[in-house]
Amino acid sequence: MFQDAENPRIYLNIGLQSINEKRVSLLKLSRPTREQMLPDALGNLPGVGSHRNKSGHAGLQASGGLLAIIKRMNIFEALRTSHETQRGLADALIKTSGDSKDRDVLFKELRTELAAHAAAEERFFYVPLIAHDMTQEPSRHGIAEHHEMDELVEKLEKTDASSPAWIAVAKELHHKIFHHLKDEEQGIFQLAGKVLTEAEKLSLAKDYEGEFVSQRLKD
Ligand SMILES: [Fe+2]
Repeated sequence: MFQDAENPRIYLNIGLQSINEKRVSLLKLSRPTREQMLPDALGNLPGVGSHRNKSGHAGLQASGGLLAIIKRMNIFEALRTSHETQRGLADALIKTSGDSKDRDVLFKELRTELAAHAAAEERFFYVPLIAHDMTQEPSRHGIAEHHEMDELVEKLEKTDASSPAWIAVAKELHHKIFHHLKDEEQGIFQLAGKVLTEAEKLSLAKDYEGEFVSQRLKD
């Protein structure tokens, strides 16, 4: 699929997590990539590890192409990449059962992903948009929804993972995530497209990517 590196939009559709894995590992080449250390629960998800080389390790042979793609991304493409990861993780999470390793791994991964994304998105998407009348209110709404998701994550942390209550809250979180992402992609993205300049769309993507990676590396 890296043959499609010249077309970022095709690349963005390759599936769950691939770009996230690469963009983190590109900045952390001296350490094993998260793909290499992935437990089965993540390794079996569609898209994860789809670029492993013949030795079974996540190859960075195409990292130059990926960097070029990231450099050309605008803020909407960067955010959509993160959104696809969240959707994939949330879908997988609600298919787990009981107090299993898969449930634990997927929950922690989704929690980390949501936190890194929300922090980076608020700083390099919502804050600049609050400056414009057209996008002030939807930005406030988006940030409020991030808080609602945070609260559901905290509720899951405090709930016994083997209880029926846990999966009920997980489904609530799944619903909230999908609602929020649809709101963003079909609402504020369109308005932001009108108020941000083309240069801002590109520079915010770089800022978002940098912040996202530094948030993920806090783990
Ligand atoms: Fe968001």
